[in-house]
Amino acid sequence: MIRSMIKSTGRYLPENKVTNQNLAELMDTTDEWIVQRTGIESRYWVKEGDDIGTSDLAYEAAKIALERAGWDPNELDLIVIATMTPDVNVPGSGVFLQDKLGAKNVPALDIRQQCTGFLYGLEICDAYIKSEKAKKILLVGAEYQSRYLEVNTEYRDTAVIFADGAGASCIEAIETDDDAGFITSIMHSDGKYSQALRAGLPARKSGYAIDPTVIENKEHFPFMDGKTVYKLAVTRLPRITEELLEKANMSIDDIDLFIPHQANLRINEAFRERMKIPKEKIYNNIERYGNTTAATIPIALDELLENKIVKNGDTIMFFGLGAGLNWGGVIYKMI
Ligand SMILES: CC(C)(COP(=O)(O)OP(=O)(O)OC[C@H]1O[C@@H](n2cnc3c(N)ncnc32)[C@H](O)[C@@H]1OP(=O)(O)O)[C@@H](O)C(=O)NCCC(=O)NCCS
Repeated sequence: MIRSMIKSTGRYLPENKVTNQNLAELMDTTDEWIVQRTGIESRYWVKEGDDIGTSDLAYEAAKIALERAGWDPNELDLIVIATMTPDVNVPGSGVFLQDKLGAKNVPALDIRQQCTGFLYGLEICDAYIKSEKAKKILLVGAEYQSRYLEVNTEYRDTAVIFADGAGASCIEAIETDDDAGFITSIMHSDGKYSQALRAGLPARKSGYAIDPTVIENKEHFPFMDGKTVYKLAVTRLPRITEELLEKANMSIDDIDLFIPHQANLRINEAFRERMKIPKEKIYNNIERYGNTTAATIPIALDELLENKIVKNGDTIMFFGLGAGLNWGGVIYKMI
C-alpha cells in the first residue's frame, strides 16, 4: 500500500529576536501581560530594512529539509507553500520558492488557510501521494507577518502575538503494509466566523483595486476578535480530536504526543486540561517563537526530530484552528 512519510524537516527563524521588553518600549504593554495572556516571551521578526520576502524564509527552511532528505530540488514532483503573508499579492509565493530552489518546471501550489495551512498542506500532499500523482513533495509553512503588523498601542493585541518564521518537510511516497506514516486527517471550515480574524488587503469595495477607505479605516492591519477566537478554539479543538480519534479507531492514550498550532499557550493549556492529557504529552514552543501561523507546526516538528523527542513508532497528532474559520487535525505514525 502507498503511504505518505515525512522524510525530513528543516526550520528557519530570522536572526532578529524581539523580546516582550522590546515591545514594551514601543507600546503600552508589559512582559507580564504578554506572558500571562499568551505564553510568549520572545519572537523573531525580520529586521526592518531587510529586503526579503516570505519565500526567502521558506527557501532557507526548504534547503535544510531537502539536504537532509538527500533530494535535488529537480526531483520534486510538487512544491506546496502555506502562507497568509505572500511576497506579493500575485503571483503566489510558491513560484518564488521554486525559482530560488532552481526546481525547473516543478508545479508550485500556494494554499491560503492561515493557521491551519500546514495541516491542509499535509492532507493535500497525502492525496497527491495516494493517488500516485506525486512521489516526492516539498511542503513549507512560512510567514513574514511583522511586515503587516502595526506596532503600537492601538494594535497591541495582534502585535505581541504574530511572528516570522518557516518550517519545511519533505514528504515521500513509500510502499508498506504497516499502518504507518500519514494515518488520517479531518479539516473543517466555517466562513460564518470570517470576520473574527482578518486583514483587509487586497480589497475592492469600490472602483479601486485598493479602496482608500480600507486604508483610512486601517482595515489593512490584522483585526482579531480575540475573545471569539479563544472561545472557538477551546470548544472546537477538543471536538476535532474526538472526531479524529474515532475516525482512526484510536483512543486518546494511543497518541504519544499532541503537537498543537501555537496560537496561544492558554488555548493549548485549556485543551490539555479539558482532554485530561498529561503535560509531557503536549508540545509547546510559543514562548520562544510567538505565533508564526502556517509555520508553527513544521517548526515544532523539526525541533522534536532534532532533539529526538519523537521516535520511530510514535503516534502523533497535529491540530489547530485559526482565521477562516479553519480548523483540523492529522494523525501520523512515525517511520
Ligand atoms: C488576545 C487575547 C490574549 C486577549 O486576552 P483577553 O483576556 O481576551 O483580553 P481582552 O481582549 O479582554 O483585553 C483585556 C485588556 O487588555 C488590553 N490588551 C490587549 N492587548 C494588550 C497587550 N498586548 N498588552 C497590554 N494590554 C493589552 C485590552 O486593550 C483590554 O483593555 P481594556 O480592558 O482596558 O479594554 C485573548 O483574547 C486570546 O488569546 N485570544 C485568542 C487569540 C488567538 O489565539 N489568536 C491567534 C489565532 S490563530
